[in-house]
Amino acid sequence: EKGGWSSFMAKEISEEPDAVANTILGRVQDGLVRLTEFEPLGDDVIANIDRIVVVACGTAAYAGMLGKYAIEAWARVPVDVELAHEFRYRNPILTDRTLVISISQSGETMDTLMAVKFASESGAKVVSVCNTHGATIPRESDAVVYTHAGPEVAVASTKAFVAQVTALYLIGLHIAGVRGTLSDELIRENVAELQAVPAKISEVLVTSQSIKQLAHWMTDTQSVLFLGRHVGYPIALEGALKLKELAYIHAEGFAAGELKHGPIALIEPGQVVFVIVPSPRDPNSLHKKVVSNIQEIRARGARVIAIAEKGDAAVLPFADEVIPIPLAGSFFEPLLAVIPLHIFGMELSAAKGLDVDQPRNLAKSVTVE
Ligand code: F6R
Repeated sequence: EKGGWSSFMAKEISEEPDAVANTILGRVQDGLVRLTEFEPLGDDVIANIDRIVVVACGTAAYAGMLGKYAIEAWARVPVDVELAHEFRYRNPILTDRTLVISISQSGETMDTLMAVKFASESGAKVVSVCNTHGATIPRESDAVVYTHAGPEVAVASTKAFVAQVTALYLIGLHIAGVRGTLSDELIRENVAELQAVPAKISEVLVTSQSIKQLAHWMTDTQSVLFLGRHVGYPIALEGALKLKELAYIHAEGFAAGELKHGPIALIEPGQVVFVIVPSPRDPNSLHKKVVSNIQEIRARGARVIAIAEKGDAAVLPFADEVIPIPLAGSFFEPLLAVIPLHIFGMELSAAKGLDVDQPRNLAKSVTVE
């Protein structure tokens, strides 16, 4: 039940802090990650894998992209993220040293199920990240790491997304522990960062109220672009997908570094561009690069809405609007930056008088290929 909320989506966005917290619950011991779900696989399987392939669709695939950045950094295993339907029908290379991770909220997505079955038949081990107990995909998998987001009713995925990212980060830290690629001290640091995320999301939920006005102002907007870099890139894709499905607006997400390779030609006066800005403390100094991207598009008349770390003074002179997010380690920023984009998609849909929970032409679980 909606319990006083205007839509299921509004309720489910409000539950994003709990979705993260409940997915961590019971999986941390002495500050380290312990995933008993991996026991049926055996530690030697995890020690011997030479590649991970993530298969998923839509928003779940964007969660997978974040998983790639984190798992490669922590566990030093190469990770490919593939749309399940593309993976299944191109004769992919799988061996008994490949670990396939499927991600699905419903556990019934036919495209993902077919990829899982194919992977199993090809001799790969399959671990599934799923939000629905006893669904078909978990039953076809060697192991399951359930997300504990609670039932998601709105067609557009919100709380399941942050729970999926949380589960993938736990998997990354678990594998890093087994393979010894990260010291216990560093694992503990990352676990503590992850555990701090729910309270920070709650903070973002409060400060993002102003987004409603932004949405009202944009009901006639024809096209919106989203830019992000590194872990901000999947968030740009997620922001764009939400606008397409909820507000029926043409939207594109780009890797900010790709701008000058084509997309900058789209920038004309008044074009709205959301930019996910990395922390100024980012060790790879991506912050500077993204700020200079903002300057480039601003000089061409773009209207810039920056999602940036609280107190980031460098973006202020160039952004028309800044949505602040709390400080967090770079892998954890996306779990905060995505929240205003979920709210924005919902508010724009509502401002246009559309059905927030049930967008046209879409179903909550896609059980056909
Ligand atoms: C977007 C959305 C879809 C799903 C995709 C996969 O908001 O909800 O893109 O993420 O259809 O669904 P699951 O996770 O159930 O396999």
